[in-house]
Amino acid sequence: MRACNNLNTSICFNYKEIGITYCTLTNATNGTGWPKVSDDVFDGEKINWNKFFEERAKEIEAIKNGCERKECQNCQQIKDIDFIDDKKIHYILLSPWQICNSNCIYCLGHAEVISPKSPNYMKYYKEYEEPYDMLAIIKDMIQNDVLAKDAEIDFAGGEPTLYPKFDEIINFFIDNGFKNIIIHTNNIQYSKAIERGIKENAISLMISIDAGTKKCHEKVKGVKSFDKVWHNFKKYSKSKNKNYTKRLCTKYVMVPGINDSEKELEEFIKQSKKNGATQVALNVYNQLLNEMNYEEDLLNHFFNLAEFWISKAKTNKLQYMLFPNIEYVYQKLEKQPL
Ligand SMILES: C[S@@+](CC[C@H](N)C(=O)[O-])C[C@H]1O[C@@H](n2cnc3c(N)ncnc32)[C@H](O)[C@@H]1O
Ligand code: SF4
Ligand code: SF4
Repeated sequence: MRACNNLNTSICFNYKEIGITYCTLTNATNGTGWPKVSDDVFDGEKINWNKFFEERAKEIEAIKNGCERKECQNCQQIKDIDFIDDKKIHYILLSPWQICNSNCIYCLGHAEVISPKSPNYMKYYKEYEEPYDMLAIIKDMIQNDVLAKDAEIDFAGGEPTLYPKFDEIINFFIDNGFKNIIIHTNNIQYSKAIERGIKENAISLMISIDAGTKKCHEKVKGVKSFDKVWHNFKKYSKSKNKNYTKRLCTKYVMVPGINDSEKELEEFIKQSKKNGATQVALNVYNQLLNEMNYEEDLLNHFFNLAEFWISKAKTNKLQYMLFPNIEYVYQKLEKQPL
């Protein structure tokens, strides 16, 4: 049947203007994201789970019948799949926090860098304070048995490790047997809860590093943090046990004129290997897909860099993955990765 697996399985905790939504993605075709769930579903404190699944079922039905809401029209996530509604959540995206201690040149999703030690921090924090108690909702979700036991829990932001309840939430999930947690982080701030999750084979890390040398890292991230990031990474990687089956993945977003060179990509692979990464990931920044008009030269430039990067990952015996934007470059050129 015609369906979207994101809608069928997910919930997104976003920051205040956006709130709680069903869909965790932006429709790449028309650039729109979903509005928050209705007041009947969420009254600002609690989610009415019967209503949640009732309204979700209506949206699923609409897609099935080809009369989906405008946010879903022409979305590439709609596919022909088998689906039975088990009235469970299988994927949670936690992205309630825009504050960040980096200032990445390509990132549109973060708020100004401010140190937690700054005297204005609490005032500033209040402006970004979550409009709902996410942990209370998660507890209620588990109590009502709507969260699938093997659910994927995905923490992003802003910088999630700065979120005041970050460690508490992670520990809560681990205490309750959830072992499929992914944290997207710039790795500047060390977290004891992440360390525990790695020791207990419950957490994968996806670390945005985006450079191979200190100088370029500062250019991309806007802050001096190269040594700290790798120091923390090494500490995490040392805490994994023999039975660790998750991913310690370092990630590189290519930005034209900033970090799109073989030298940086090669150094990035070397650092990843040296510090214990189990996987490396590559992407091109999102804006490129709007800005480039698919110019052949630019597509070929990124294609050649990606091929170079894959060859270095292979030589260093690192697993590698390509994110959708770079896959799109391959598709446009009708090429296959090495
Ligand atoms: C918004 S960040 C939040 C988590 C964390 N601060 C981090 O950097 O991993 C989540 C991921 O989105 C990626 N990202 C942010 N802006 C992007 C863009 N314009 N194009 C491609 N990836 C982007 C980051 O590299 C990061 O891996
Ligand atoms: S079809 Fe696209 S926009 Fe609609 S719910 Fe699925 S992923 Fe979101
Ligand atoms: S560290 Fe993450 S949230 Fe912060 S600016 Fe960079 S990509 Fe954005």
